Amino acid sequence: MNAPGHMLPATDENIARAAERLAAGGLVAFPTETVYGLGADARNDAAVARIFAAKNRPSFNPLIVHLADADAARDYVEFDTRAEALAAQFWPGPLTFVLPRRPDCALSLLVSAGLDTVAVRVPAHPLARDLLARFRGPVAAPSANASGEVSPTRAEHVAASLGARVDLILDGGPCAVGLESTVVDLSGPAPALLRHGAVTLEQLREALGEVEDATTPAEGEAPRSPGQLARHYAPRLPLRLNATDISNDEALIAFGANTPSGARKTANLSPSGNLIEAAANLFATLRELDDPAFRGIAVVPIPEEGLGRAINDRLRRASAGSGERAGGGL
Ligand code: TXA
Ligand code: MG
Repeated sequence: MNAPGHMLPATDENIARAAERLAAGGLVAFPTETVYGLGADARNDAAVARIFAAKNRPSFNPLIVHLADADAARDYVEFDTRAEALAAQFWPGPLTFVLPRRPDCALSLLVSAGLDTVAVRVPAHPLARDLLARFRGPVAAPSANASGEVSPTRAEHVAASLGARVDLILDGGPCAVGLESTVVDLSGPAPALLRHGAVTLEQLREALGEVEDATTPAEGEAPRSPGQLARHYAPRLPLRLNATDISNDEALIAFGANTPSGARKTANLSPSGNLIEAAANLFATLRELDDPAFRGIAVVPIPEEGLGRAINDRLRRASAGSGERAGGGL
C-alpha cells in the first residue's frame, strides 16, 4: 500500500511546510523520541480545539506544550530552582514539567484545560527540534492517536488512526523510547510524579530529594485526571446548565442561534454554532463571566455530539460543586 499523500519524508522542504501549516492554524503530526505528537500552535485557541476534535476526545485533557529550549519555556511558565535543576539534567528529553502559568502567559487556556498550570517539555528528537526551531513557537501536542487507542510510535500508526483529520504527517521512522514522557508536577510545594516514563522516579528523587508518587497504579499509565486535580478550574459563581429561562441578574453563555433574552450579560461561544469555535472560547468565556456582579452563570444546552461532548463534560464538572467554594479555581 502506498503511503497516504499527506505523510511526508523529513526533508528540509517538508519541515518548512509543516512549520507553515502550524503557523496557519493547522494540525501536524511529528515524531518525538517518545511517541508521535499531534501538534498545533499552542497560542491559537481554534487550532488547539482542533486537536481535541481530531482525537475525538469526550473530555478536555490538558496538553503538553513542546518548546525548542528551556528559555522558550520560561516565557510561559514560572521556573523555580527545581525546574532549573531538572531542565539542566534532562532536557532535551522525555521529561515533562507541570508548572504555574505566568500571569502574562500567551498560551491558549485550552492547553491547560482550564487549570492554572501548563505542562512543558523540550523534546530530544532531531526532527521535532528542527520543526520547533523553524516554527519559532510553542507546539501543543498530545499523542497522535484517536481517543481510546494506544500512542503511535510510527508515522503509519498516525495515518491509520487519524487519517485525513491531520493536515500533514512528518515521517521520522520509529520512535526510540516508545513510551510517553515522564510527567512531574512542580506546581505545588512537593514535587509529584504524575506519569511514569523513561526518566525514572529514582532519577527524579536523586535530583530533587523527596518526590511523591502520585501515579495511580490501578489505572496503569493513566495519571491524575484533570477532574481529580486540586486546582481544576471551576467558576466561583454557580453554573446552571441546559438553561432556557434566564433571569436578569444572571450572565448567559449562549451557543449558535440559541440566545434566550433577559440576561444581564451574554457571551456566545459560537454564533454560527460551530463546536470547534465554541471549545476554543469556553475557558476564556467562563473566566470572563465569573464576576460577582452576577448571581450566577446560565448555559444554554450544548449539542451532545463531537466536541460538544467534551464541552458538556467540562461544564458538568464545573457545575458540580459550583457556588460552594470559597476560593475558586484560579
Ligand atoms: O511523550 C509525550 O509526553 C507525548 C509526546 C507527543 O510529547 N505526549 C503525550 O501527551 O503523551 P498526552 O496529551 O497524550 O499526555 C499528556 C499528559 C496527560 O496525562 C495529561 O493529563 C498530563 O500530561 N498533563 C498535561 N498538562 C497537565 C497539567 N497542566 N497538569 C497536570 N497534568 C497535565
Ligand atoms: Mg495520549
